[in-house]
Amino acid sequence: MIKHKHQIIIVGAGIAGLSAALEAAQAGNDVAVVSKVPPLRSHSVAAQGGTAAALGNMEPDSWEWHFYDTVKGSDFLGDQDAQALFCKEAIETAYFLEHIGVPFSRGENGRILQRHFGGHYSEFGKGPYIKRSCLAADRIGQAIVYTLWGQCLRLRVKFYKEFLVTHILLQDEGCSGIMAWDIVRGEMHIFQGKLTLLATGGCARLFKISTNSAINTGDGMGMVLAAGLPLEDMEFIQFHPTALYPWGFLISEAVRGEGGHLLNQDGERFMRIYAPAKLELAPRDIVSRAIQGEIQAGRGIRGKPYVYLDITHLEDQLIKEKLPQIRQMVLKFAGIDPKKQPIPVAPAAHYTMGGIPINTNCEVLKNGKKTIVPRLFATGECACVSIHGANRLGTNSTMECAVFGRRAGKYMAKIGKKLDFLPLPQGQVKEGWEEINTLLNRTPKTSLAEIRETLEERMTQNCGILRDESSLKKQLELIHNLKTAYQEIGLKGMPKEYNLALQEVLELKHMLNLSEAIVRCALARKESRGAHYRTDFPTRDDKNWLKHTLIFEENGTYKLDYKPVVITRFEPEERQF
Ligand code: FUM
Repeated sequence: MIKHKHQIIIVGAGIAGLSAALEAAQAGNDVAVVSKVPPLRSHSVAAQGGTAAALGNMEPDSWEWHFYDTVKGSDFLGDQDAQALFCKEAIETAYFLEHIGVPFSRGENGRILQRHFGGHYSEFGKGPYIKRSCLAADRIGQAIVYTLWGQCLRLRVKFYKEFLVTHILLQDEGCSGIMAWDIVRGEMHIFQGKLTLLATGGCARLFKISTNSAINTGDGMGMVLAAGLPLEDMEFIQFHPTALYPWGFLISEAVRGEGGHLLNQDGERFMRIYAPAKLELAPRDIVSRAIQGEIQAGRGIRGKPYVYLDITHLEDQLIKEKLPQIRQMVLKFAGIDPKKQPIPVAPAAHYTMGGIPINTNCEVLKNGKKTIVPRLFATGECACVSIHGANRLGTNSTMECAVFGRRAGKYMAKIGKKLDFLPLPQGQVKEGWEEINTLLNRTPKTSLAEIRETLEERMTQNCGILRDESSLKKQLELIHNLKTAYQEIGLKGMPKEYNLALQEVLELKHMLNLSEAIVRCALARKESRGAHYRTDFPTRDDKNWLKHTLIFEENGTYKLDYKPVVITRFEPEERQF
């Protein structure tokens, strides 16, 4: 086993991980970033439409309007202390990103260009849509990741690429590092750190049709669950309304922000029925359910499970300047020129609102409440602080990654100075290594691909945009059967180098456990709120369910707990759009 020692270990090289690495390195720390893929292939590069900050470059805006929209968008399940802090810090963070070189698009006055996105309005939701999403054409994620990465290289951050983290090393005194498998060379490594940060992204790949990269299998969340620590609000999975049918590639909400219309097979702009005031720019949970409603009522195009996103009325110049990548993708994959024909779209799993419970310094919470797990941090999509509650607003996630990634990096730099390294827990290292060895030496009796495909297909079917008790119970039973089958996967006779089957088996373990966590939380929450829609409990129930879910796993048994939502300013109200 090969050993490495760094003051700060960061797992994941998306916007959250790189923002933290940059701040910690800037403060003089020796920082290592361990990533499953080369950093420039992290899923953050897939972010298209923009990043939210109330800069007011195009029209007057305020962080307080952004705050209200985020609270209402979250269906009142977000923690308002964290939401207020986020909306305030988003402004200085946008300027920070500008100053380190992010190539934002510019308006005529030279300022960062901003555009409309769903759920972002003026005057505490009473006014019209507001241009709050800072754009870099339609590739904001790529613009931010490439810039942060360059800055990290300048500060000599050490990158370990194509390393799959397999275990978090935890003892009573706290986290002493991680174990990771070098995918290319087929070797086990130990990374000992004074402080460890998980920035491993979400788990929307648990679903068959997903906008996410293949890497988004929830590894960080899975490792935390396996360590006996809780996950928060896992029932809230966001389905993005517009993914290219049938593949599921993201077609940014920016397309609707720039004026795109949703049409059913009768050519009707059906959002008039579901959200008469805000139409296509209502929050995502509302728009996705509306599309699903049209499809189920037989008004999908030619009766198929998709609708049209129409931008044929937009100026050619606008499409080429502000939506160039989307135009290219639609041309290449669907063979459609979106200026001439409408784009076929359907909802797809997009984002994990829940995750590893943290405080606003990004410290992981032991029981999900106040006590921290010393030396273990989490940020970005794998974490739940909780800004997004039951439904995230578009462009709030890239900004969350930057705001809280930076907070994590600064805080770790501050407290790390006083700490020594903890000794490594040898028993855990041995167990971790044995798990890999067992897999490598077991004769296969079942198909890895079949288990994974069945899981993804049925998660979409039974735990998708609409769920009920019967579909969720069916899914739970299926997961148990798949878990039994998982024990029969083996990799005997395969080489260790570039053994992608080993990577997939290790990912599948987390996928099965996370699916069970999601289904159990969804089964328990007997109401509909944000992205969690129970057809058997179709209304929001603040009396009984205005609370966060916490789920723990111990030797295969799952336990639920709850904690109150932090409400500082805006009392829950009916959501109308
Ligand atoms: O639609 C989009 O461009 C996605 C943005 C987001 O998820 O924040």
